[in-house]
Amino acid sequence: MSHIKILSDEVVAAISAGEVVERPLSVVKELVENSIDAGATRIEVTIEKGGKSYIKVRDNGSGMSMEDLKLCLYKHATSKISTREDLFNIKTMGFRGEALYSISKVSDLSITTKRHDDITGYKLTAKGGRILSVIDQGTQNGTTVEVSNLFYNVPVRKKFLKSDSWEKTLITEYIEQAALTYPYISFFLNADRKNLLTLATCNSKTERVKQLFPELINSLMESKVLIDNYEGEAYLSLPNIELQNFQLFSVNNRIVKDRIFFKAIQDFFSSQRKKSPFIFVSLHIPEDELDVNVHPAKREVKFRDNNKIYTVIRQLFEKASFNLPEKEGLYITRKLFTISSPKPEFRIEEPQRIFVQTMWEEKPDHKASPVKDFRVIGSFGTGFLLIEKDKSLFIIDQHAAHERLLFDRLMAEYEKKTVRPQMVIPYVFSPKKGSVELLEELKAPLAELGFVFEPAAPSSYALVSLPPHISYETGIKTFLELMEDKDCLKLSKDLAYKAIASLACKEAVKKSDPLTADEINNLLTEAVNYNKPYCPHGRNFIVEITMEELEKRFGRKD
Ligand SMILES: Nc1ncnc2c1ncn2[C@@H]1O[C@H](COP(=O)(O)OP(=O)(O)O)[C@@H](O)[C@H]1O
Ligand SMILES: [Mg+2]
Repeated sequence: MSHIKILSDEVVAAISAGEVVERPLSVVKELVENSIDAGATRIEVTIEKGGKSYIKVRDNGSGMSMEDLKLCLYKHATSKISTREDLFNIKTMGFRGEALYSISKVSDLSITTKRHDDITGYKLTAKGGRILSVIDQGTQNGTTVEVSNLFYNVPVRKKFLKSDSWEKTLITEYIEQAALTYPYISFFLNADRKNLLTLATCNSKTERVKQLFPELINSLMESKVLIDNYEGEAYLSLPNIELQNFQLFSVNNRIVKDRIFFKAIQDFFSSQRKKSPFIFVSLHIPEDELDVNVHPAKREVKFRDNNKIYTVIRQLFEKASFNLPEKEGLYITRKLFTISSPKPEFRIEEPQRIFVQTMWEEKPDHKASPVKDFRVIGSFGTGFLLIEKDKSLFIIDQHAAHERLLFDRLMAEYEKKTVRPQMVIPYVFSPKKGSVELLEELKAPLAELGFVFEPAAPSSYALVSLPPHISYETGIKTFLELMEDKDCLKLSKDLAYKAIASLACKEAVKKSDPLTADEINNLLTEAVNYNKPYCPHGRNFIVEITMEELEKRFGRKD
């Protein structure tokens, strides 16, 4: 008896449906791509329960004839290619003729469609891939595909889905990505009867980026590169601000996940010691330099010349950074305290370029240069400094100590009302609906801390100044966190404490930051003489072991 069996058509269909239709997102993606291929200028997506129970994609594209409608559910039924050669010159998103076939196999599906010149439209209904009916149906121009009860006949796949809100987020992110790639199409997303995205048509990618991310209005860097016949465009947010963890790569308007793109990001941003910001790179290359037929869900592509792709992306990053809107005086080096000549026994950190106006430039005025009466022995592990003073060994936690000093300094200025806000490049943000009133109420208490903002556009504000002694990045991050923290916003006393503690914690040197000799000296001069050896979180930042104690431990003394 043979072990090998030829699988039934039903099993084969389930396997191939699994390749294309992994989750509700896959359905949305395939249907939106079909709408794009049909020349739509308006695409409306409606979902319920993260797409698990219902998905509708309506477009104003070409529509289908009755004959095409009857054919479109068959496997490998496509109007987009016909010969082998066509595979190397694909200008449409789809070409495999598998999507509608696969989706219909695992759901209840209906397609209502009308071509612009036809008098009437048609409606097809199907269940589990079987066509139930095709009837004449009055409808508007274009196509509407409705998919319900996804995976009703594949319970295993259903089990692998995440929560409704997770699936909804995946779909929202995809629509944002599609909208960025196709700025000339208007996109709408409605989830569980709420409008999540309303994106009118835009005239350019720049406009679309700003429409989707108003917080980038004043901080968008752009570049364009042309190498032979490879064209590239990049859109990046200013460095050092992690506004969005958003990285998108499209090639010939196809959204692809490609390791060359991620490698270019890693190489460029880590060598610049910058965090990777909002990044959108769009390339247009000749169709025959690209093989799109390597992944069933078309997430991956193969390039003929990987090096060239890498070079274009790198040049885009370099050019965008070079085009940075640099304001005089806004870049200064990071110093902990006033720096005198560095001592050779410590590693000297290269000054880091970051966005801030003034930071540790002046000597702290509330401490009149205390006399240095300690000796630095060195460092221990990560972030502990060893010091000898008055016949004691002190072990200091560098992060906690710096945090405490910063906290007290900021708190003292706040309490004495001597905060001198630092003017910064305006940072535009859009408060969530319903929090505008609260924000207006908090305008005064936040200004006392140094956070000053003004209305910028109908639904957004510009943060124009930050508390002193901190970097731009720390200031913006703390501000955004405060905006999220509804509980602390209600109590303005709590607000000041939370804000200052958060600023100090973010700004303080990290445990793993190597310090220069002078930074250590300056930090210790203050810390060793400090009378409150606790960080704002209540952790001790200094431990003292006296000579007496040591002698006792070694049995030299009783
Ligand atoms: N929204 C739509 N508007 C017009 N025609 C469509 C639409 N969706 C699908 N079609 C037709 O159905 C065919 C099959 O679609 P699909 O299964 O996604 O395969 P593919 O996109 O790879 O051709 C398409 O080639 C197209 O002719
Ligand atoms: Mg398709």
